[in-house]
Amino acid sequence: MLRVAAQIIDGKALAQEIRAELREQAAALQAKGVRPGLSVFLVGDDPASALYVKNKHRACESVGVFSEEHRLPVTVSQDELINLVLAANFNPSIHGILVQLPLPNHIDKRAIIETIAAEKDVDGFHPYNMGGLLQGNPRAVACTPKGVVKMIESTGMSIAVKRAVVVGRSQIVGKPAAMLLLERHATVTICHSRTQDLAGRCREADILVVAAGKAKMIDAAMVKPGAVVIDVGMNLVDTGFVGDVDFETVSKVAGWISPVPGGVGPMTIAMLLENTVEATVRAAK
Ligand code: GUN
Repeated sequence: MLRVAAQIIDGKALAQEIRAELREQAAALQAKGVRPGLSVFLVGDDPASALYVKNKHRACESVGVFSEEHRLPVTVSQDELINLVLAANFNPSIHGILVQLPLPNHIDKRAIIETIAAEKDVDGFHPYNMGGLLQGNPRAVACTPKGVVKMIESTGMSIAVKRAVVVGRSQIVGKPAAMLLLERHATVTICHSRTQDLAGRCREADILVVAAGKAKMIDAAMVKPGAVVIDVGMNLVDTGFVGDVDFETVSKVAGWISPVPGGVGPMTIAMLLENTVEATVRAAK
């Protein structure tokens, strides 16, 4: 049987629609004298992190969110960083705080994340927000998994009752993505580096979310025909950035597939803006 190629989930276009709505919400807030504000902390000069932060800053400007950037030397102490985050906690013109990860080894990531006021945690990494997600009462939800779910929903396919497989168990993507899918009544399997028969598990998936950080690790033989495939991977190889999914072969089998670049990346940034605007609305109440 000749299969029609998968439909593309255009994260870039979806993100633009969301940004247009956020621009209106930000304008409405400004009309009431409240300008959404985001404070971003970047420690060290990792080029990938610097690029992310630059993209975030530009995105904020494009929707009318004020953003301030704290670029700190790699030698900054944990106490100095904590004091700066505390200052942002107490700054009434800042509604969202983001500390770009990874942090240098001498800084305890957990101590920093727990310093951020839960109501300003636009990454959704604070234990209060992670706990809310686990309890089925999410407030700020991590940007990448939040965007992933919106991408799945954009296909029109219902998540309830479906078999969802998440490859990767990170705090930033895998675990929260699994919880969001569970909350929408999918039957969820989380796979990881020690999973037996990964291909078999993946082939069971109506919804396959891949966030393992391994270039092109998912091939066509691992995908159920017609499945929705979301590729969270962003791996630098000789030819540029590729995802965790072998797009060329998998797109011949899947029903829907998100590309890299132009898939999850733009949605993550749109969700950061959404979380910042939502935090502003909550603070204004
Ligand atoms: N580093 C890579 N992705 C992220 C993210 O979503 N948030 C933060 N704070 N750091 C990151």
